[in-house]
Parts: sequence; C-alpha cells; structure tokens
Amino acid sequence: MCVRFGEATDIIGKIKLNEVKLNRESHVGILQGKKGLILGVANNKSIAWGVARAAHREGATLGFNFLGEQMEKRVRPLAESVGAEIIAPMNVSEEDSIDAFFAQVKEQWGELDFIVHSIAYANKDALRDPFSQTSREDFHLALDISAYSFVACAQRAAPLMKAGSSMVTMTYLGAERAVPGYGAMGVAKAALEASTRYLAADLGESQGIRVNSLSAGPIRTLAASAVGDFRKLMEKSSRGSMLKRNVDQEEVGNACVYLLSDLASGVTGELHYVDAGFHIGAGDPGIE
Ligand SMILES: NC(=O)c1ccc[n+]([C@@H]2O[C@H](COP(=O)([O-])OP(=O)(O)OC[C@H]3O[C@@H](n4cnc5c(N)ncnc54)[C@H](O)[C@@H]3O)[C@@H](O)[C@H]2O)c1
Repeated sequence: MCVRFGEATDIIGKIKLNEVKLNRESHVGILQGKKGLILGVANNKSIAWGVARAAHREGATLGFNFLGEQMEKRVRPLAESVGAEIIAPMNVSEEDSIDAFFAQVKEQWGELDFIVHSIAYANKDALRDPFSQTSREDFHLALDISAYSFVACAQRAAPLMKAGSSMVTMTYLGAERAVPGYGAMGVAKAALEASTRYLAADLGESQGIRVNSLSAGPIRTLAASAVGDFRKLMEKSSRGSMLKRNVDQEEVGNACVYLLSDLASGVTGELHYVDAGFHIGAGDPGIE
C-alpha cells in the first residue's frame, strides 16, 4: 500500500490521540486504595477543598470534618460530591469533640492512610493590633487552634496508621519572616512547623509515618480575610514571586497529594513551598 506524506501524518496523529485517550481511561490515581481525612473545609474556596478535589481525582476515599451547623450546610454537599464516606463534626478546641470524631473514623474505617490538617484561627484584632500588644488570651487561642490541634489530631490518627502513612499541615511564610498583619498567627505557624519536625521524628521512628508541612502563598479564602490588607499582600507576593503570579487552591492540592502519596515515600519533616517561588526571592513580603 502506498501512503502519501499528508495521509501518514494524519494516521500517526490519530494513533497518538487514541493512545492519550487510552492512557486517560486506564489512569490509576496516585492515591488509589488509600483512605484519608481532609480537616478544614469551610467552603469551595478553602485550601482543604483544593486538596480534597485533587485527592478524589487521584482515587482516594475521603472523610471530612465540619465546625458547627453553619459550616455543615456548606461542607456536606461538597463532601458528598466527592463521595465522602465520613462527614462529621469536630471542633479542635475541644478534646471530647476530637475524640468523638476519631472514634467514628476508627469504627467506620478501622484504618487510615493520611490526614490533611488545614485549620487555623486567631482573633481578627490580634492580627491587626501591634504584635507587642498581643494579649495572653489571643496568643493562646492562635497557638491552640492553629498549632496544637495538629498534634491533637496526629496523636489520634497515628494508632490507625501503618508505615508509609502520611500527615500534611498547611503553613505560611509568616512563620519565618515578620509579615505585617500576620502577628500572632506567624508565631502559631512557627510552632506548627516545629511540631511537624518533632512529629516526623517521633512517628517516623516508632511507626514509619511521614509528617510534612506545606507552605502556601497567599490565596483568597475565609481565613485569609482576617489578615490585615490581604489585597496588598497578594499584590506584593505576585510581584516578588519567580513566576510573577500567585498560586491557587488547585496547585496546592496537587502538591499536597504528592506528599500524601507513595511517590513521596522518602520525604518527611519537610517544609514544602507552593508559592510560585516567592520565598527564594528578595521581594518585600510585607505590606507598605
Ligand atoms: N489562604 C491563604 O493565603 C493561606 C496561605 C498559607 C496557609 N494557609 C493556611 O491554610 C489553612 C486553611 O486555611 P484557608 O485559607 O483554606 O481558610 P478556610 O477559612 O477555608 O479554612 C480554615 C478552616 O479552619 C477551620 N477551623 C477554625 N477553627 C476551628 C476549630 N476550632 N475546629 C475545627 N476547625 C476549625 C474552619 O472551619 C475552616 O474550615 C490554614 O491553616 C491557613 O493558615 C492559608
């Protein structure tokens, strides 16, 4: 058979297209067969929701918490849309609430492959007032909900996990640099990042569990609205980043599923940035 050049490239093109279709259909997700908890979805703008979508796409079976009835109205439909098997209340400032949540996880699943901790809270005024004026109460609140809660969840999750399981928490550059408008939350994030390293040492040695922090660039969310002049912070982050832009929930989600997956089997105690390279630059991270 004699085939002209134009026809030949057409045929090759069709074969390639079919190969791509086949690869997509036979795509095995990197979290296939894994069960994990996404802690901290408030709405469809939450970073945790970006992680949930990526984890669902990669084949994970998911469980979610929500904070109170108001949040449940938003979280339940989102969680159901990705086939969640657990959707239950958990307030991380109450020990009984954390116990009840993990008791349900134990009863329903009996085992766990990953948790994603994407929870933070501080009084708005504590972030806006000069840092030197932070009250004992506001300091404790920020540290308790934004840092200790990761330890509290890790200690309940670990007994359900086997070697190779993974925990990830969300942090921000304000842990390492004095970012205006971040105050007490920056101190809480520093404690969270240090907690990640100590959890990695402890749970790595005793059970082979990996624990990592993911430092995201600024993203417009409910929690972000508490940070002073967030619009300016985003502008500065975009200008000072290597990619000359900000990141979004999907990019954080994609990097997070790598840390949750076996692809990152040798990675623990790490602080992984998803900030378009802002942290390596000399750009002013603050607000004028
Ligand atoms: N948005 C950003 O620019 C940015 C950047 C870096 C890191 N982070 C971090 O990402 C994480 C998620 O924040 P987000 O920006 O997606 O905002 P978000 O408001 O969508 O998520 C914060 C979550 O914390 C939960 N929470 C607060 N107090 C709680 C409590 N007592 N018990 C249980 N849950 C509680 C809220 O219900 C909410 O779901 C936080 O740790 C935040 O500091 C955010």
